[in-house]
Amino acid sequence: MELFEIMRQMPKDWEDAAGWDHYYTLFCESGYHLKELIATFDLMLVGDCLMTPQRSNPKIWFPGCGVTLVPRFCALGRFRVWASDISGVAIRVCKEMEKDLEKHEKLSAFAKPITEGELHFIQHDLRTPFVQGDFDYIVDVKTFQGLSSGSKAEAARVYRDSLTQGGQAVFVLVNVREEYHNEIKEIIERSGFHLTKREADAWFFSALGDTGIPYTRLDKRPCVRKDDERYTGAKGQLNQKRDQTKLDRLTREYQKRLDDEFRRLRQVSKETNTRIAYLRFWTG
Ligand SMILES: C[S@@+](CC[C@H](N)C(=O)[O-])C[C@H]1O[C@@H](n2cnc3c(N)ncnc32)[C@H](O)[C@@H]1O
Repeated sequence: MELFEIMRQMPKDWEDAAGWDHYYTLFCESGYHLKELIATFDLMLVGDCLMTPQRSNPKIWFPGCGVTLVPRFCALGRFRVWASDISGVAIRVCKEMEKDLEKHEKLSAFAKPITEGELHFIQHDLRTPFVQGDFDYIVDVKTFQGLSSGSKAEAARVYRDSLTQGGQAVFVLVNVREEYHNEIKEIIERSGFHLTKREADAWFFSALGDTGIPYTRLDKRPCVRKDDERYTGAKGQLNQKRDQTKLDRLTREYQKRLDDEFRRLRQVSKETNTRIAYLRFWTG
């Protein structure tokens, strides 16, 4: 079965557990979970959103994890990871994949043993309390957005209660139309979250734009685009060095602003007994 045909089998009702089981059965029986590295996209969306951790082995929960390698990546990176889904099939496949990653060409690079982190897969309905609690982060990728309003409120309360003080929930919302943004924000705020705006990001991107320097972002660090004509020819090297120094100065200032902002947020969260939520709206 072609991938697009399978994608069309996603349940219309997001909370239809049997529908998700059916979808993941088709998806995985056709082997797409081993061919499509969906994790790369998700990591790109999540990677930049997490605040500096408060503990050396932070605890993270991925509710509605589906079948991706994101939880494994985090566990390899020292996180203590709990990944859950209402679909028993999704959880079974995640567990099976763990046993034979090295057998699959595209996945074998990620088959390393998890040494400093932990990885647990659990079937669970995210509208009901999650027993593990005490999380530093909760990362919801494309799950919250599909729930009914009532279920969104239940899920947001569960997330709030599962976070440690100063903990952060990240909601990655993909292709959600703008008219629903306010409703989503209100539900999350009403459930006891302080929404962050990431003022440091707004400052950084505007400051980068003001320089007029053509750049790409490599591993968070903006680097001059070496193929630009100002960096070729006799003065190319010199211009490159000058502009990269400017970008690096802004990057250091950005990191400082980000850290100050995180400190402020954690203080507000403590004083108001709220938890921190960051909403990442992404349009593909
Ligand atoms: C669009 S998929 C996203 C999966 C994954 N997060 C990703 O980024 O690929 C939505 C997921 O939410 C799960 N889901 C829906 N309702 C749920 C519920 N009440 N509790 C837990 N998981 C749920 C589905 O089984 C499905 O895996």
